[in-house]
Amino acid sequence: MTIEEAVKNRHTVRKYTDKKLSDEIKEKLNLRITDNNKKYNLNMQLMTDNKEAFSTLIKLFLAKNVQNYIILAGKDENDTDEKLGYCGCDVMLYAQTLGLNSWWVGETFSKKTILKILSLPADEKITGIIALGYGANNGTQHKSKNAEEISYYEGNKPEWFKKGTEAVLLAPTALNKQAFTIKGIENKVSIICNNGNFSKTDLGIGKYHFEIGAGKDNFEWK
Ligand SMILES: Cc1cc2nc3c(=O)[nH]c(=O)nc-3n(C[C@H](O)[C@H](O)[C@H](O)COP(=O)(O)O)c2cc1C
Repeated sequence: MTIEEAVKNRHTVRKYTDKKLSDEIKEKLNLRITDNNKKYNLNMQLMTDNKEAFSTLIKLFLAKNVQNYIILAGKDENDTDEKLGYCGCDVMLYAQTLGLNSWWVGETFSKKTILKILSLPADEKITGIIALGYGANNGTQHKSKNAEEISYYEGNKPEWFKKGTEAVLLAPTALNKQAFTIKGIENKVSIICNNGNFSKTDLGIGKYHFEIGAGKDNFEWK
């Protein structure tokens, strides 16, 4: 499966089988995480075979068998949320190409527990986790806005702009808000997101999806 296919096939999955990740899969994920961390100066980490990220309540009603997750961590700076959105998205979609399912969690996990296990440097923060594993199912397509509600192109809309916008509409967003505004003119594109505390994370995820759909060579961010 390619990343483009992963964009189309990925849906939130909160219940998993108890199948463990093989050493080969763990190694591949760790390589992808390390690459992103180096390139963007982040501290994302893969935690495996650990069931402590969720409270008993969440485990009872929402999640099942979550035992692997990427911790979205990095220095507490202005652009960290957006970078973790962008890079977390890269690892999440890569995991999908390896046959895994995922669940981005910004709120309903136990940050306290993670901080206890991790001993993160004082100047770093966690913006969320991404649960990974073999889903009990593959999830379902979320309800979606249409392209006209989130995008505007000045002039004749090129195919790459349409494809970029379609890919953004497939992205996970906090509370499925899809609070994006994408504007295009010639080969220049701007995107903003207005989703409260998760605006910057969603923005990073949205940018990643747009680049995959549109093709990075076809446009420039404004
Ligand atoms: C930044 C962010 C935070 C999220 N936080 C939570 C959360 O705390 N709990 C939860 O159950 N789902 C959470 N989600 C998952 C969204 O509800 C889900 O992505 C959205 O409904 C779209 O569905 P999809 O992922 O199947 O496309 C979050 C997603 C994102 C991108």
